[in-house]
Amino acid sequence: MPTNRRFLLVRRPVGLPVDADFSLVSEPTPELKEGQFLLRNHYASLDPAMRGWMDDKPSYMPPIKLGDPVRASTLGVVAESRNPDFPVGSWASGANGIEEYSLCQSGAGRRVDPDAMPSVTNYLSVLSGVGLTAYFGLLDKGRPSVGETVLVSGAAGAVGSLVGQIAKIKGCRTIGIAGGPEKCERLLKDYGYDAAVDYRGKSPSELAAAIQEAAPEGVDIQFENVGGEILDAGLLALKPNARVVLCGMISQYNSEPAPISNLWELIVNGARIEGLILTQYIHRFGEAMPDLTAWLQSGQLRIDEHIEEGIENTLSAFLKLFNGGNKGKLLLKLA
Ligand SMILES: NC(=O)c1ccc[n+]([C@@H]2O[C@H](COP(=O)([O-])OP(=O)(O)OC[C@H]3O[C@@H](n4cnc5c(N)ncnc54)[C@H](OP(=O)(O)O)[C@@H]3O)[C@@H](O)[C@H]2O)c1
Repeated sequence: MPTNRRFLLVRRPVGLPVDADFSLVSEPTPELKEGQFLLRNHYASLDPAMRGWMDDKPSYMPPIKLGDPVRASTLGVVAESRNPDFPVGSWASGANGIEEYSLCQSGAGRRVDPDAMPSVTNYLSVLSGVGLTAYFGLLDKGRPSVGETVLVSGAAGAVGSLVGQIAKIKGCRTIGIAGGPEKCERLLKDYGYDAAVDYRGKSPSELAAAIQEAAPEGVDIQFENVGGEILDAGLLALKPNARVVLCGMISQYNSEPAPISNLWELIVNGARIEGLILTQYIHRFGEAMPDLTAWLQSGQLRIDEHIEEGIENTLSAFLKLFNGGNKGKLLLKLA
């Protein structure tokens, strides 16, 4: 029976998570019951949402219980099986945990074809939560029309880079906000943004001025991944009937939320701000998959995957999401 290293949450983080909030343990893998299978995880997805699941607060998902592995989507190969739908050797992904082996129940997980995509890891990036969030957030909540201007924060990240590219596919003008000259260059060169704004080192009024310079006629859709001062600065550029898609507020995940000053702009522009939570779209995932698959296979969608290695490096890898150290969709290689 193989040994299973598991990355457990043992204390609720206050602010940025630290080593003492977690424990890396080795346990034997469990015996399988009828219908179950054991997935040897090759990759885990590291997502900003995991920080919220570590808190003991009501949310769209229950908090991770203390003593449980940190919840994560994983992708791997079936190592043992008592489920005919998941034979040994097949690739599968599912909502599991940061652990080398996951015990999967009947009805959980999806089979994936490793040869159908440019990389098997695409099943944790474009063809998973981030791709679906970009797709439904932009197309269903933002409802872009040809020629409209789309402003994206966190634009060089996993969701943001896809939002910018899908907006271009739909004929929009795109402006991305990211941290530092290197990421801003990637916005223009790699993700086809029409303009890039570096938020680092700028006061709120300087940031607002830079956004207005990049969007002299204003913004129709603000796709917000960051919140705080960046959300506030973007609101000052809204056009009449603009849509603000509130996808994430990563700048606030390790601190108390900052007040927003410019909500008046929604009133004077008759604009709409709307939260997005991907779990409300589960019944519509089938609509998005053909488009995302076709765009990925044709090269119309570029995805950069930033792969860190080793379960023992989970925390340092995870923290890259909050210090801008990730260059693309952050994944952890486990095998
Ligand atoms: N609503 C939903 O259903 C849903 C689903 C998936 C993701 N999301 C949200 O989408 C957002 C992006 O997620 P992702 O997985 O694509 O992550 P990501 O953008 O690949 O990585 C996070 C990036 O956020 C930026 N960032 C972190 N702290 C910041 C701060 N204090 N100020 C400004 N920028 C900061 C950093 O980029 P820079 O280097 O540019 O600063 C960092 O690289 C998150 O807010 C996440 O919660 C929402």
